[in-house]
Amino acid sequence: MTAHAPPSRPIWLDGDTSTIKVIDQRKLPHQVEVMTLSTVDEVIFAIQDMVVRGAPLIGATGAYGVMLAAVSGKNLTPADHFSFIQKECGRLKAARPTAVNLGWAVDRVLAGLSSADSPASWIETARKTAEAIADEDAENCRQIGLHGVSLIEALSTGKSGAPVNILTHCNAGWLACIEHGTATAPIYEAFRQNIPVHVWVDETRPLNQGARLTAWELGQAKVPHTVITDNAGGYLMQKGLVDLVMVGTDRTTRTGDVANKIGTYLKALAAKDNGIPFYVALPSSTFDWNLTDGVNEIPIESRNPDEVRFVQGLDRDKVISVRVPPSQSPAGNFAFDVTPARLITGLITERGICKASEKDIRRLFPEYF
Ligand code: MRU
Repeated sequence: MTAHAPPSRPIWLDGDTSTIKVIDQRKLPHQVEVMTLSTVDEVIFAIQDMVVRGAPLIGATGAYGVMLAAVSGKNLTPADHFSFIQKECGRLKAARPTAVNLGWAVDRVLAGLSSADSPASWIETARKTAEAIADEDAENCRQIGLHGVSLIEALSTGKSGAPVNILTHCNAGWLACIEHGTATAPIYEAFRQNIPVHVWVDETRPLNQGARLTAWELGQAKVPHTVITDNAGGYLMQKGLVDLVMVGTDRTTRTGDVANKIGTYLKALAAKDNGIPFYVALPSSTFDWNLTDGVNEIPIESRNPDEVRFVQGLDRDKVISVRVPPSQSPAGNFAFDVTPARLITGLITERGICKASEKDIRRLFPEYF
């Protein structure tokens, strides 16, 4: 275990524009290590190997990646420099397929460059846009917390001081964003307001983002929580031990279908069957305004089967990896699933809470329709 305090953001600039720093999330919770990224190849590796992960953070990392591309092409002619940056943007956008924030952020930085007045200012323009994306994300998550806390407050009034039990899946906390998190923002806000809360943390196989990251975050903030197996949620709901389910998302259609970490759909089905509210928290950068049919249109990432076959954990003071199934058994690693809008009680955004329907999403974000 690392004893010193972790950085307060999972990504930041440290000095000039030649490097970015990130928390290496593969090592959490046992080691808090910072990785330096100086090239587009390193950024792509960090996104693909899940050094950084979570939709908003993948977006911010891609945005800083465009800045690094601008730095590494700086000795080219202006025309070559720009087409080099464009090519690097294509590679960055392809690093992971499901989270729409990546393409959104990379395109936003690139668009800023085409309107910059000189090639000499491209690096600085890219830096400023990437910083703006990170800062806006932090503010959007803060707003999500302020809107979402009303749901927890309302549930709390009927509980005579007993904690509101919230079930969450994967990690949609500040590690996945920049600050506050999406699904965790209302929880942190409730805790700050002394509303009693308790969080059921799905371990979230295969990479255990819940058991490793959400549990670590909540522990650091002293928010009461319990790690559970991914299959425990249905049982807890039947026993009246879940008041609210709150998750994040990697891509949400304009009609309110939600792609999130594999297993989210099953939680939504169980919540529906038990009459438990199921909310999805997201900044507007996670909407894909072009899509209307999540199940058939959202690209679902398939990852290395070894992530399913091997489990990582602490053995005394050493992090080790062990294989679970027989060596000859093949494994499948589908990283996300889609929860149809009909199973979702509402979406918590930076502009307020709305139903997961095209009509209600349009009311909050008319400029995208
Ligand atoms: O594969 P990951 O760890 O990048 O998946 C992350 C999730 O599924 C999160 O729930 C999602 O990105 C929302 S993050 C605020």
